[in-house]
Amino acid sequence: MTAPYTPTAPRYTAVTAPGALPLLGHAPAFVRSPLTFTAGLAAHGDLVRLRLGPLDAYVVCHPELVRKLLTEDRTFDKGGIILDKAREAFGDGLATCPASAHRRQRRLLQPAFHRDRLPGYAAMMAEEIAGTTAPWSDGDVIDVPAAMYRLTTAVTARCLFAAHERAGSLPVHACMDEVTRGVARRIMLPLPGVDRLPTPGNRRFRRARQDLLEITRRLIAEYRAAGTDRNDLLSTLLGALDEDGRGLSDAEIHDQVVTFLLAGMETTAATLSWAWTLLAANPSVRDRLHGELDTVLDGRPARHDDLPKLPLTARIVQETLRLYPVAWLLSRTVTTATELAGRSLPAGATVLFSPYLLHRRADLYPCPDRFDPDRWLTTTRPAPGTYIPFGLGARRCIGDAFGTAEACLALATIASRWTVTPTPGRRIRPARSSALTPRPFTATLAHRVR
Ligand code: HEM
Repeated sequence: MTAPYTPTAPRYTAVTAPGALPLLGHAPAFVRSPLTFTAGLAAHGDLVRLRLGPLDAYVVCHPELVRKLLTEDRTFDKGGIILDKAREAFGDGLATCPASAHRRQRRLLQPAFHRDRLPGYAAMMAEEIAGTTAPWSDGDVIDVPAAMYRLTTAVTARCLFAAHERAGSLPVHACMDEVTRGVARRIMLPLPGVDRLPTPGNRRFRRARQDLLEITRRLIAEYRAAGTDRNDLLSTLLGALDEDGRGLSDAEIHDQVVTFLLAGMETTAATLSWAWTLLAANPSVRDRLHGELDTVLDGRPARHDDLPKLPLTARIVQETLRLYPVAWLLSRTVTTATELAGRSLPAGATVLFSPYLLHRRADLYPCPDRFDPDRWLTTTRPAPGTYIPFGLGARRCIGDAFGTAEACLALATIASRWTVTPTPGRRIRPARSSALTPRPFTATLAHRVR
């Protein structure tokens, strides 16, 4: 059914998606095949209304409308079904706080991700990547997503708490695993009340959240007592002052630490896992990557100053993030009645946008499902709203350069020494999760002889 046509925005089409079932609406189709269903919405219009059970949601499918949505962050604020669930784990940290609190938080935290800090983080990343992959030997079969998750946990924990040599050994890993899974479960099953039942899963989630709180409390106390800058993220958080000379409270720092852990670990791990599957399926790209790495690294681990000399590595990461943007579906809430695509949206309406949908539009990317890192050889930047693996506007990922550097260093260091070949015979499919991450799969490591 087409929504009433409004002459104020004649260029855009606002429609209701076809195929809604009585009561359940589009929920069964979405749950059955979330990615295919969502990507298919662009064929119906620029703003597509969905009914997900009792809830109405609007999916923005046009890049210009996505740009409007993400730059008008006071009208389209953080909120909605996905965010409300994520808030249970992130607290009110940078990724989940409303626009009213966001400016202050972002100003306080931005110095932690300043360009000048990256070489220092990259040195810690390189050590953690080397440490995590050191026990690997020729012929080993590894669970790829789990191995990449271990690697990015070690990196993120180390860059947060540099004082802890081998910070990856902190019990953060186990807690985060449980918290991430708990949040994903809650997002995919948005039934009211289910998350409060005393099920084993809910109990594990609450315990892990409590343990994480204890760990960060202890670390904050240790750092405050020592009073020295360790050039890590936690030191920057402890030293941050706003224009009134006010710093972050312990509770705020806890929420930011958990935010960085949650936002930084799974995203980069999933990107790396997808990259290995894409390289294995595209041996000619993999051979060229090996060529680039042999020339520049000659078997040694990658360093920060190598990155400008590894353009193919960078394009592989960029193209992986196009095909598999980890944060593939995100939401906003309308704060005051407004208009989008000529359609009136009431306050409280849920608006969704999907980097996955945009990145797979054939009118934006020829042969959109093909892995082609060379499509990025062009010098023109993608038009706003067409390539958004890190979002856009005021809420754009604060860790974009950090995550990209980490993915490039890990990909380069591992691929220069190892060929990672997924075990044949099984299609690697996305997990049922709020994050676009692959289901567990194994791969054989072959030591490369140069
Ligand atoms: C490949 C890796 C990564 C991807 C694909 C990614 C993706 C994203 C996306 C799409 C957003 C915007 C969400 C929205 O608009 O609702 C975001 C925000 C954010 N990301 Fe990342 N991210 C990555 C790595 C990281 C890392 C390494 C960190 C920190 C160490 C991080 C911390 C954050 C934070 C704190 C925000 C909230 C920013 C704000 O609202 O001001 N991310 N990320």
